[in-house]
Amino acid sequence: MAILVTGGAGYIGSHAARALRRSGYEVVLYDNLSAGFRRLAQGFELVEGDIADEARLRPVLARVDAVMHFAAHAYVGESVENPRKYFRNNVTTALSLLNSVLDAGIRRFVFSSSCAVYGVPERIPITERTSREPVNPYGASKLFFENALEAYGRAYGLRSVRLRYFNAAGAADSEDERGEIGELHDPETHLIPLALAATANGPELQICGSDYPTADGTCVRDYIHVNDLADAHVRALQYLERSGNEKGEDSLALNLGAGRGYSVLEVIRAVEYVTGRAVRRTMGPRRAGDPPVLVADPAKAQSLLGWSAKRNFSDIVSSAWAWMRKIERREAA
Ligand code: UFG
Repeated sequence: MAILVTGGAGYIGSHAARALRRSGYEVVLYDNLSAGFRRLAQGFELVEGDIADEARLRPVLARVDAVMHFAAHAYVGESVENPRKYFRNNVTTALSLLNSVLDAGIRRFVFSSSCAVYGVPERIPITERTSREPVNPYGASKLFFENALEAYGRAYGLRSVRLRYFNAAGAADSEDERGEIGELHDPETHLIPLALAATANGPELQICGSDYPTADGTCVRDYIHVNDLADAHVRALQYLERSGNEKGEDSLALNLGAGRGYSVLEVIRAVEYVTGRAVRRTMGPRRAGDPPVLVADPAKAQSLLGWSAKRNFSDIVSSAWAWMRKIERREAA
């Protein structure tokens, strides 16, 4: 069985591609390299193209049985400043991809959604029934596409699993992949890589807000190891293979988190513990669009996919640190 992975040269897509290959799937990566990195696609067939390019996609879609869609912009702050970019890529061009998939006769689709669809939830932990009221354009763009998938499921029998990631972090940790792939973003805006960099040559970390209604005043997030996310994608695909009827009634939305929250200050302490170095930091203002607390209830993914996080927070930080040191050594060489 062959799978098309859009955004396969990106952070999460590249980890999912390897998990698929380990499980015996043929994998074709599709990426325009606007945010992806050729080095993350090494060892795979990479078709360079835009998801809105129907002519480029058509022959590739003719060779695959299912699609995993990762290609999207994913910076909450940027989405507040430049919503046009987010709605164009995460909605308009993503819908064009979805129509190409449908026209190619493919009926299995796994989508990278986000806990950002929930906005500022009334209750923690967040279940899949929590109302979806995004507070930033990024979350709104993900919610729109989720709704499109639901409608296409009902109308056309397109079956999908919509995976709502909490905070993806860490780097590949298997023997053969360690140091080969990990978190790469340009620019980097995520807490863990920035905190790690602030122990070394990187800029001082700015803590985005210390007046949130949380125990220590900083935001709380549910960090989930990227390899655990990758495993969930394989399980989602297997779910679509074994179940389903023509009406798309078994389409699913699932939270992927560890079910445990860490504040920004707790993350800094963990980074200091793992690296043995101080994180240089200052207190700054809140970042627009940041909800105070996001923690998953991952019970549904456990019961329907048999999935739960296998790596703990310390595994996340230490794999991210190992990857960062590897890159630094490579760049210094
Ligand atoms: N933070 C800082 N300083 C920084 C960067 C981040 O204090 O320099 C804080 C943020 O305010 C936030 C926490 O660290 O409270 C985590 O921030 P990240 O940028 O690492 O992650 P986000 O929670 O903003 O974003 C992630 C994913 C998105 C997803 C979102 C859901 O990157 O794709 O979670 O809210 F949509």
